[in-house]
Amino acid sequence: MEILAIANQKGGVGKTTTAVNLAASLAAKKNQVLLIDLDPQGNATTGTGIEKRELAVTMADILLDGVDIEQAIVQSPAGFAVIGANRDMSGIDISLMAKTDSHLLLRQAMQSLAGYDYVIIDCAPSLNLLTVNAMVATDGVIIPMQCEYYALEGLADLSQTIERLKELNPKLHIRGVVRTLFDARNTLANDVSAELEAHFGELMYDTIIPRNVRLAEAPAHGLPVIAYEKYSKGSRAYQKLANEVMQQSR
Ligand SMILES: Nc1ncnc2c1ncn2[C@@H]1O[C@H](COP(=O)(O)OP(=O)(O)O)[C@@H](O)[C@H]1O
Ligand SMILES: [Mg+2]
Repeated sequence: MEILAIANQKGGVGKTTTAVNLAASLAAKKNQVLLIDLDPQGNATTGTGIEKRELAVTMADILLDGVDIEQAIVQSPAGFAVIGANRDMSGIDISLMAKTDSHLLLRQAMQSLAGYDYVIIDCAPSLNLLTVNAMVATDGVIIPMQCEYYALEGLADLSQTIERLKELNPKLHIRGVVRTLFDARNTLANDVSAELEAHFGELMYDTIIPRNVRLAEAPAHGLPVIAYEKYSKGSRAYQKLANEVMQQSR
């Protein structure tokens, strides 16, 4: 079982889109997949066709009250397992602070998970305690980046956080950086893309996720893009990314 957190403290860079569509593409390639939504906004939950207000158990119950993680798992119509999130999780950061070993709670809760090839964690746009929990529980971090002027800003904080948490989680590493919302006609995007390659080298995925309207439409139907428009550019790109991720696993 491999755990991959999708993180970047910037909002709107394609974290949730990547989490949902990577999960769906991995599942389509015969992997057992669990997607964990760690963002109180619950966009990954809604995006896989799950009604977030109807969740019986969320990560809040697991982390704060010690409810068994198995009880929070629901089957998405998209063909994989999901632990959903909703507003019940907002403010969890403050409640977590009062607990002992507050940064270890997710890792402890996940210890009983079995039978999955991949667990994908969608993080909130923040480096809060919940995200720290994800970093401590995960094997690798996938960083989605939009190729715009401020792309690299804040990245130092994320890299530093990852470095510091290696003490608690020796496995922790940047698994890869994926360019998202890419517009090849945009000169600046190409410049920033080249800059990212210079900075990250081998850590860059070859697959670039284009800006594609189907990717933006699919969540409104509660579907990953592979189930919404299988042959769209966005769908093909995430299937390619899944291939790269699986190749890294070998
Ligand atoms: N490659 C893409 N092409 C078009 N729209 C996208 C793409 N990736 C994300 N979006 C849209 O951009 C917005 C932000 O993406 P999202 O994945 O929610 O980012 P984050 O989770 O980092 O905040 C959403 O409305 C999403 O549908
Ligand atoms: Mg998100």
